[in-house]
Amino acid sequence: MPVVASGETTLAVEVRDLVKRYAKAPVDSLTGVSFQVKQGEVFGFLGPNGAGKSTTIGILTTRIRPTGGRAVVAGVDVAADPVGARRVLGVVPQQNNLDRSLSVRQNLIYHASYHGVPRATRNQLADSLLEQFGLADRPDGRPDDFSGGQIQRMMIARALMHDPAVLFLDEPSTGLDPAARLFLWEKIAELKEAGTTVVITTHDMDEAATLSDRVAIIDHGTLLALDTPQQLVQGMHSERTLDCTMEPGPTGDAASLGIALGGLAGVRAVDQLDDPAGTGWRYRIDVDGEPAPLVAPVATVVAETGAKLTDVRLGEPNLEDVFIHLTGRALR
Ligand SMILES: Nc1ncnc2c1ncn2[C@@H]1O[C@H](COP(=O)(O)OP(=O)(O)O)[C@@H](O)[C@H]1O
Ligand SMILES: [Mg+2]
Repeated sequence: MPVVASGETTLAVEVRDLVKRYAKAPVDSLTGVSFQVKQGEVFGFLGPNGAGKSTTIGILTTRIRPTGGRAVVAGVDVAADPVGARRVLGVVPQQNNLDRSLSVRQNLIYHASYHGVPRATRNQLADSLLEQFGLADRPDGRPDDFSGGQIQRMMIARALMHDPAVLFLDEPSTGLDPAARLFLWEKIAELKEAGTTVVITTHDMDEAATLSDRVAIIDHGTLLALDTPQQLVQGMHSERTLDCTMEPGPTGDAASLGIALGGLAGVRAVDQLDDPAGTGWRYRIDVDGEPAPLVAPVATVVAETGAKLTDVRLGEPNLEDVFIHLTGRALR
């Protein structure tokens, strides 16, 4: 497989200063995006709706022409040689684009024949992929007769029929039920094991953190951060929290308890939160350093007001917090 050597690592994707302005659009949908994906990596593209994820995937998979910049997939410049690029990449688009007039198996076979896979190989490969993706019991069914999760699996199986070096998955789990999502996650892990490079977009931070070796956070067409999920979260180490829920006592009030908690050493800020159960008081305490040593002093202050602590949670920051920190907004 042709690849670009850069230093010691081998690159599966290289993107430099990618700009996209759609016709009549008032602003750029990509403002100059650069990143690299190493061979064998699962690379997550995390951002809210409209961030520019599908535009990036569209350019990398030759469906969309960039306004500026350069994109190379498995050594092939996608703008200079789109046909060559399509031979080395596989894509699962955000929308179902299976051929509804063909059976599941035919969808796979036709895709392979389009890409020049020999007949004997493609029949064998189709059967093996249908098996691998749990679709072997109804190979002659039409796409319309399957669930969303099965459709998603069919599109992945189809994309793998020409043995691509890099697989692009655009929001593959959006709309899937938890079981279908878990199955998809397992399959992506298996692909990585087998050495396929996977680029996945998602607006789900759990998915990005679970699957990705590295995550690029994108918003308004601009890359805001790019690192391993661990490193992204570690950069937030000062943003630990202690969430407490309590039953109010006969005396005391929520506001003065909040003030008392705020007076403890190591506490940076206290926010009173809504209590979903509606009966107790909840506080989120922002902590300098480790939250655990504050549990005992918090319990003491709470007890002094006559209230009773019913729940304590040590909040580790996650990718959602990273996103909020970078943009001031929640992911959705
Ligand atoms: N064909 C198009 N014409 C004009 N604007 C578009 C088109 N496709 C996408 N956009 C705009 O480009 C931005 C990025 O869209 P998209 O790449 O689909 O984001 P995402 O996949 O992250 O939700 C959005 O503001 C969207 O409205
Ligand atoms: Mg999209």
